[in-house]
Amino acid sequence: MRLKGKIALVTGASRGIGHASCLALAEEGATIVGTARTKKDLDALVAEVKERGVEAKGIVCDATKGSDVAACVAETVSAFGRVDILVNNAGIGGYRPFLDWTEEDYDRIMATNAKSTWLFCKETIPHMLKAGGGNIVNLSSVAGLQGYPSEGIYCMSKFAQVALAQSLDREFYTKNIKVSLVCPGGVETHFAIGDGRTADGPNMKSFSRPEDVAEAVVLAVLPRERTRVVNVILRPMNEMT
Ligand SMILES: NC(=O)c1ccc[n+]([C@@H]2O[C@H](COP(=O)([O-])OP(=O)(O)OC[C@H]3O[C@@H](n4cnc5c(N)ncnc54)[C@H](OP(=O)(O)O)[C@@H]3O)[C@@H](O)[C@H]2O)c1
Repeated sequence: MRLKGKIALVTGASRGIGHASCLALAEEGATIVGTARTKKDLDALVAEVKERGVEAKGIVCDATKGSDVAACVAETVSAFGRVDILVNNAGIGGYRPFLDWTEEDYDRIMATNAKSTWLFCKETIPHMLKAGGGNIVNLSSVAGLQGYPSEGIYCMSKFAQVALAQSLDREFYTKNIKVSLVCPGGVETHFAIGDGRTADGPNMKSFSRPEDVAEAVVLAVLPRERTRVVNVILRPMNEMT
């Protein structure tokens, strides 16, 4: 119970890595606020978290919309007083030859992955400053550290999360706001299924599990007086570095 009393806000909590991160943070005693667009999945998450003996709340929120994000953070603070841990996990992907990407794809991917991260940081940091600190985790990717073919726009959005994390870390570490990156390779989730991946695709069963990534999220936010975690890179066993 190393996070007992902490308030954790996790985006993209309805399934996959966000869902697993909520459960892992709850196992350590954190109160969980999970956000996504799908209410029934959030209701199921809240029940699962409460089974672990901690408080939980689901907030329906489109992470690409400033008004939704502001309302979500305000509702969290009104319910629990502050946000100690923010996990910017909501995201979408897609694999397509470069010349097939459209302007609509660009806007959708950048808004979901990059703009949402900025919006949640913008709304949450004032509360962290008021409370004397906090932890932010940007769930980027190995595709935020190097470019991959057929993933051009996705890579741009994941590099943006890395850039923002580095910038915020340098701006706020003296205020006790610790900003971490978690950068997985392939993870077995719904991510990009129907948009370049299939549920029974050849690599899927060799990918990392969402629980493996959730452990890295917990590692990044455990309280440490003299250390902050800057970047955790994870690779499934079938992937080269
Ligand atoms: N799976 C991988 O191989 C992999 C590898 C490296 C990094 N990542 C990163 O890990 C993160 C989580 O992905 P995942 O693999 O867990 O995928 P996933 O299973 O598809 O989950 C994505 C989550 O994001 C939410 N979401 C999508 N659009 C949203 C929006 N506009 N507003 C609010 N929530 C939204 C979804 O909820 P709703 O649909 O209910 O809104 C869902 O909870 C992403 O940022 C992804 O880039 C994944």
